[in-house]
Amino acid sequence: MSAETDRPSPRTPDHAIDPLFLERWSPRAFTGEAVPEADLKRMFEAARWSPSSYNSQPWRFLYALRDTPDWSVFLDLLVPGNRKWAVDTGALVFLVSNSRMKVGDDLKPSASHSLDAGAASLAFALQANRLGWHVHGMGGFDRERAVPTLNVPEHHRIEAAYAVGRAVPWAELTEEQRAKEQPNARRPITDFVHAGGFPKDA
Ligand SMILES: Cc1cc2nc3c(=O)[nH]c(=O)nc-3n(C[C@H](O)[C@H](O)[C@H](O)COP(=O)(O)O)c2cc1C
Repeated sequence: MSAETDRPSPRTPDHAIDPLFLERWSPRAFTGEAVPEADLKRMFEAARWSPSSYNSQPWRFLYALRDTPDWSVFLDLLVPGNRKWAVDTGALVFLVSNSRMKVGDDLKPSASHSLDAGAASLAFALQANRLGWHVHGMGGFDRERAVPTLNVPEHHRIEAAYAVGRAVPWAELTEEQRAKEQPNARRPITDFVHAGGFPKDA
């Protein structure tokens, strides 16, 4: 068993890091517990302090708590494969970024709005873990329908959807679920970190 999660995990770092990076993972078995709005706000607060180009803060978070009218609207935007497990989470979130930023008095295209929003999404997810929740990112949603449904303005990109919930404890999972509900592994840093430019054979 891993010390960072309540289940077996192949996540052993080759270099010492804060355990919070290993604790974040994406379950699919959730308890159906509601996420208190106050906890969700703490996750958004963590996202708030993320770095961004020109401090443009291009992220927008749209959320629906379960047991509210928006919940079924958000859930319905997910592809069936995601809807199947996300229905047992406590909050659904869409992350949108603004492709334009203010520089002085001008509105300029941002070269990094998605990167900036990605930084915010990780802060959001790590804070969720610190609070005992898990966040599962989703690219599987109906992008075309999401734009009018969520009233997304021009010059904005829907980056991803996120389901936030309480992971079912390992002890309560069936054998079949256990096979899937484990954190996955990663390539070693030697695969993607290079002193100098790309190696010749890359
Ligand atoms: C932008 C993005 C889109 C994703 N889309 C989906 C998805 O549609 N469905 C799903 O089950 N998981 C989705 N994932 C989860 C990834 O598969 C998962 O993050 C990856 O396998 C690494 O596992 P971990 O998050 O447990 O560390 C997505 C993750 C991200 C960041």
